[in-house]
Amino acid sequence: MKQHIKHSGITVCVLLLLLIIGGGYFVYSGVYNIGADDPHTKPVYTLLEILRNRSISVRAESLTVPNLDDPQLISRGAGQYAAMCIGCHLAPGGKDSEIRPGLYPQPPDLTKARVEPKAAFWVIKHGIKMSAMPAWGGSHDDETIWSMVAFLQKLPDMTPSQYKEIVAKAPPDDDMAPMAPSAGAGHSHGHSEHSHSAPTPPSDQPNDEAPSAHQGQSHTHGGDDQ
Ligand code: HEC
Repeated sequence: MKQHIKHSGITVCVLLLLLIIGGGYFVYSGVYNIGADDPHTKPVYTLLEILRNRSISVRAESLTVPNLDDPQLISRGAGQYAAMCIGCHLAPGGKDSEIRPGLYPQPPDLTKARVEPKAAFWVIKHGIKMSAMPAWGGSHDDETIWSMVAFLQKLPDMTPSQYKEIVAKAPPDDDMAPMAPSAGAGHSHGHSEHSHSAPTPPSDQPNDEAPSAHQGQSHTHGGDDQ
């Protein structure tokens, strides 16, 4: 009996060793094609999709959604979207962009698909690893990110001319102000300038991000909560 246990222990160890060696060979040999034009197999894709969706929904669950029907919030989001997102997520009536067909995973056409607000907020703020989706939380406070979420709720219903109109009337995207030579006040300046335009939305994270969410500091720690 003891002998038997000893034997199966050795077998498990050998199997584990083979697995580690095999895994190491797979990684180091270069046999895996990392090219964006070589799609995942169906099982790998499904697994990654479940991982992605669970990771996002678990983290987005506790967010508090502000009033997304606030016209000023929507208008502000329109300017942000037009300035930063259309290359990958398109605009109503526009052609497909040059970058989009080559991206894998391909960015969803947000003029057609309506995103779930909490998940959208989380994805915009934190980005998605190993995809082209950037974490905008490094350079944008929570209120600005909610403005994009508010705009995205309306986008699928917009005609090209409605889109043009709302973008034309939108406040300018001044988030890159710190780059300009004379803009010393940076983000907090942008924040106070806009705070009259929307009833202050609640903070997104009840935990570690809450204290600084409204001081325009989210760019200093975006993404460090995981
Ligand atoms: C360089 C390309 C790129 C840019 C620019 C970009 N995104 Fe994305 N975005 C992606 C990709 C790729 C995905 C899909 C990632 C995935 O599914 O894993 C994505 C996913 C998303 C999603 C999730 C959609 C869903 O159905 O789950 C939202 C919301 C989103 N982006 C919003 C934005 C907003 C708002 C901006 C502008 C501030 C933006 N993105 C800019 C590439 C981009």
